[in-house]
Amino acid sequence: MNKIKILSGTDRPDSNALKIAEYIFPKLKGYGAQSEIISMRDFPVKDVAGGRYGESISSVEEYNKRVLDCDGLIMIIPEYNGGFPGILKLFIDYLPFPKAFEKLPIAFIGEASGSFGALRAVEQMQMICNYRNAYLFPERVFIQRVGKQFSPTEGFEDKMTEELLESLLKNFVAFTDRNKGVRERGAGL
Ligand SMILES: Cc1cc2nc3c(=O)[nH]c(=O)nc-3n(C[C@H](O)[C@H](O)[C@H](O)COP(=O)(O)O)c2cc1C
Repeated sequence: MNKIKILSGTDRPDSNALKIAEYIFPKLKGYGAQSEIISMRDFPVKDVAGGRYGESISSVEEYNKRVLDCDGLIMIIPEYNGGFPGILKLFIDYLPFPKAFEKLPIAFIGEASGSFGALRAVEQMQMICNYRNAYLFPERVFIQRVGKQFSPTEGFEDKMTEELLESLLKNFVAFTDRNKGVRERGAGL
């Protein structure tokens, strides 16, 4: 069974990204994946204060292992100021280089209050993940006006978004299947 982690991309309390992660979690299991939600809220920010790049920090290593011990990763990315949240960049800047994302299948779901559904934020993140040699899954979902059109219990008002989400989840499980074994398990950890 493939292990697919869901990364909720912000440390903001009461985050929509986390609600969406919780919404997709059972669906992903329904498509045959073993899954776990990890929130950027649990990233040990305090332990990197002052700039501790290149140091061995056990709390960061533990966090990274939780995220990276998988066959695929789904990032839920909110849009903050036309980009993705800073905490996500901090996380990436403390990942082991170069192997952490190497050949790791990654899928992207954007969510925002605005009408572009975090398109900019997702594309910026895709550029970075591409630089880090991840296998970018081509289907993406952009959740527009998230506060209006998403409810954790009812799902999406816009049925097209719901369909795109189901398609992403189903096909991402197959994508991780096809790429299983390509990536060394625990690479760079
Ligand atoms: C610091 C900050 C900056 C934001 N900037 C944007 C933005 O540039 N475009 C947009 O559409 N929404 C923006 N929003 C709204 C968020 O995208 C929206 O509230 C989203 O659901 C936040 O995700 P979260 O609840 O997971 O934090 C911003 C919100 C915050 C907190």
